[in-house]
Amino acid sequence: MSNYHIKNLEEYFKIHRKSVREPELFWEEIAEEHFVWRKRWDNVLSWDFNTPEVKWFEGAKLNITENCIDRHIRTKGDKTAILFEPNDPNSPAEHITYNRLYERVNQFANVLKSKGIKKGDRVCVYLPMIPELAIAVLACARIGAIHSVVFAGFSSSALATRIKDSDCKMVITSDGSYRGAKTIDLKSIVDDALNDCPGVESVLIVKRINSSIDLKEGRDEWIEPLLEAASKECEPEIMDAEDPLFILYTSGSTGTPKGMVHTTAGYMIYSAFTFKNVFQYRENDVYWCTADIGWITGHSYIVYGPLANGATTVMFEGVPSYPDCGRFWEIVEKHKVNQFYTAPTAIRALAKEKLSFIENHDLSSLKVLGSVGEPINEEAWHWYNDNVGKRKSPIVDTWWQTETGGIMISPIPYVTPTIPTYASLPLPGIQPTLMDENGDEISGNQVDGRLCIKFPWPGMARTIWGNHQRYKETYFSAFPGKYFSGDGALRDAVGYYRITGRVDDVVIVSGHNLGTAPIEDAINEHPAVAESAIVGFPHDIKGNALYGFVTLKETGEGRKHENLRQEINQIITEHIGPIAKLDKIQFTSGLPKTRSGKIMRRILRKIAGNDMGNLGDTSTLLNPEVVQDIIDNRI
Ligand code: WT7
Repeated sequence: MSNYHIKNLEEYFKIHRKSVREPELFWEEIAEEHFVWRKRWDNVLSWDFNTPEVKWFEGAKLNITENCIDRHIRTKGDKTAILFEPNDPNSPAEHITYNRLYERVNQFANVLKSKGIKKGDRVCVYLPMIPELAIAVLACARIGAIHSVVFAGFSSSALATRIKDSDCKMVITSDGSYRGAKTIDLKSIVDDALNDCPGVESVLIVKRINSSIDLKEGRDEWIEPLLEAASKECEPEIMDAEDPLFILYTSGSTGTPKGMVHTTAGYMIYSAFTFKNVFQYRENDVYWCTADIGWITGHSYIVYGPLANGATTVMFEGVPSYPDCGRFWEIVEKHKVNQFYTAPTAIRALAKEKLSFIENHDLSSLKVLGSVGEPINEEAWHWYNDNVGKRKSPIVDTWWQTETGGIMISPIPYVTPTIPTYASLPLPGIQPTLMDENGDEISGNQVDGRLCIKFPWPGMARTIWGNHQRYKETYFSAFPGKYFSGDGALRDAVGYYRITGRVDDVVIVSGHNLGTAPIEDAINEHPAVAESAIVGFPHDIKGNALYGFVTLKETGEGRKHENLRQEINQIITEHIGPIAKLDKIQFTSGLPKTRSGKIMRRILRKIAGNDMGNLGDTSTLLNPEVVQDIIDNRI
């Protein structure tokens, strides 16, 4: 029995039991059989969830790109590694073989070196979904530089915050990007950000939209001529197992974004193992994840997981609605996609469109459908199952987080029976548990509680860049000795998990993780705003949307509310990005507060969600009268 590829339910239970009984042995066998090492580890695992400190495969030496590229060119150099589908459906797709990927990554790596980038330096990658994004990431890994990819939809100030937090020396960007019928001027966003980032020494620019841009003398350079001149051979930097591989930012419920740090060996093993099992990838399959590499889903399941398995991974530059809402299905047909992984928000948006968009395409190649990023509601699940999967492709509802590095709870297709809205069972090596409000573990089934993980897994983030204390407080303090996910979940009679959503002040909008506090901070900078509170409310496409309750410094005539609403959303767009804009803004005479002055978000959440029947006891509030006023003026 190989631990690496699970083929039936009995085997799943057996392997899971083994992974709990002998976790070190379990992961060690996988590490031994499926990866190439420059030096073997001295110790599989050392850990302490109180410090907290976790180390996997200490003493081992490797380079992840040797595992993702070099070893495959010996056996399948002509196989397509990355299949690039451009925004414009009339432009040809590009098949980048493992041989070509090797050359292009090495050339890119040599360019980075020539600009002075060394092992341990941080490089910010701010690129659209073009092959250079994956190549830049791999080139950093080749030379041991730590990549920090920032989603190219973030604003200049959000970009600057991230560049400064991890002290990046270089930014890799493009002259612009295509997004459906629009083009976006990425370079000027970078220029604005860099006004505030003196630590950035160089900017490399990929030509994508052929726009004329300003190059800052001594700092900016087009990358194409440098790539052409660079050697196609670049010796990989030999890394320690626990050397950082990348930083990826995720929003917290308060404060600045958290730079989650993932390390080399554990992340590699975990992303590869979960990719193989959750998608049941077989040689010659074509796998497509529609996420952006700017998010963890793209890191683990467009780049590292698939490439570590020698897979063909599709990279799509565009959007599901361009040139029309049949684009996803057209691509599935064109490239005969076998595994398709997307987000509930995309499914819900497409489910609103005519079925003919789907019916015009042959989707018979599909074998596995995936969902990620937020709970998938029953209706969307059935639409996906009936119309895309034709009731023959299992849906894997995969629960995980930026922090976990890879999928944690998910059915294994053709192995685990699926139930709509249930992420189902933990993958081997994962030990979830539910905790009650007193901090006690809840035993038995048919229970709900806060979702924690009891034992380390190789893919977990090891720290928050520059702030280990915050890492400890955020993930290991609510329930000492356990990793707390921030999600609530229930466990049904047979032990299946169903994720019910965040239990903190993070709202998931269209699959994007948004902390409400940073948005409030942005709004409060508006000169007319006294204070604000933002909560999520159910939205039929986005899953959740944002509702802002805003108190103005001066009420009365002075300003037109409609203009103010626009200005508030403008401020949010500038500080964070358009994804954080508010759907509803209500101007209130005050915000409900406890006697100690804390805003009672629970009440606001209920009002925003039109669930006023059960507001609970409001009499202990400092200002109970505002509640009725807010209800009366609800939007
Ligand atoms: C949060 C993590 C995991 C990659 C994309 C998002 C929510 C994620 C599911 C799911 C219900 C889910 C959780 C989690 N979430 N997958 N299958 N069912 N909720 O990564 O941005 O770090 O967000 O997304 O609330 O905590 P992220």
